[in-house]
Amino acid sequence: MPVTDAVIPVAGLGTRLLPATRSQPKEMLPVLDRPVVQHVIEELVAGGIGRVLFVTGKRKRAIEDHFDADPELGSAPLIDPRAGLQILYTRQPRPAGLGDALRYAEGFAEGRGVLVALGDALIEPAPQAAGPGIVRRLIDAYEEGGVAAVIAVERVPDHAVSRYGIVVGRQRADGLLEVSSVLEKPDPASVPSRMAVAARYVLSPAVLAQLQLTAPDASGEVQLADAFRALLERGERILAVPLAPGERRHDIGTVASYSATFLRYALRDPRFGAQLREQAAALLAELDG
Ligand code: UTP
Repeated sequence: MPVTDAVIPVAGLGTRLLPATRSQPKEMLPVLDRPVVQHVIEELVAGGIGRVLFVTGKRKRAIEDHFDADPELGSAPLIDPRAGLQILYTRQPRPAGLGDALRYAEGFAEGRGVLVALGDALIEPAPQAAGPGIVRRLIDAYEEGGVAAVIAVERVPDHAVSRYGIVVGRQRADGLLEVSSVLEKPDPASVPSRMAVAARYVLSPAVLAQLQLTAPDASGEVQLADAFRALLERGERILAVPLAPGERRHDIGTVASYSATFLRYALRDPRFGAQLREQAAALLAELDG
């Protein structure tokens, strides 16, 4: 069955971005002229998604306001109406981890596979993107059939391994990985792989069902990696799709990563980039003496 539904979990507290996130969602922080979560929605629509469920929570109502029609603010629709996008919302009662947030999507999925896109991470297309983006490639891999999940992965340097879920697997002739394990924030010395989970997945009904049975970890959070592990132990297959050369994941979850992402998108923007580069060069000359 084709995958046309997506889930965007946005119920986390955003503590690493305090005080900016005291009363506004981190997913609503702008990257250039639009909030992060609008970039995410545009990426999903380009990948063929027609229905989105946001899993929201406390202090996240600005996201719903943002996607409402608002004739007072001008006539241009936020999302091209030809996409026919339908947006739905549900709430995670308390932030008990990404795995827990996804439990609230089981009814929405109605027994079909869903794409999952983290609401605080952008995937920047490769500069000369010729082929389909990561959302489409994940869905295509899932639709080949026979897999419980497909995970986007990105090669990261040694020092970043302990910050991410790391996928271990065997590379196939077509470049995809047949996953043997997913380790949450491992010690780089303990794993051979440098392929980090990159904020986009396709999950089958089996993963959503497994999450309902997955116990919270020592910190009280339900981890998606634990559900993957249980499924692999039962002999289910999981594939990983690497980001293409030049395709980049940008998390905006810390002050440093958010600032760097904003700067990058601003300097590369066809409308404002040239002028901003001049201003940045002048500022750097001034600051560096
Ligand atoms: P993160 O772990 O990066 O977000 O989750 P966080 O928990 O908000 O961050 P800190 O550690 O407090 O700074 C990745 C995505 O999953 C969502 C977040 O909103 C974010 O978009 N999430 C996370 C949930 O929806 N529920 C949760 O319980 C945790």
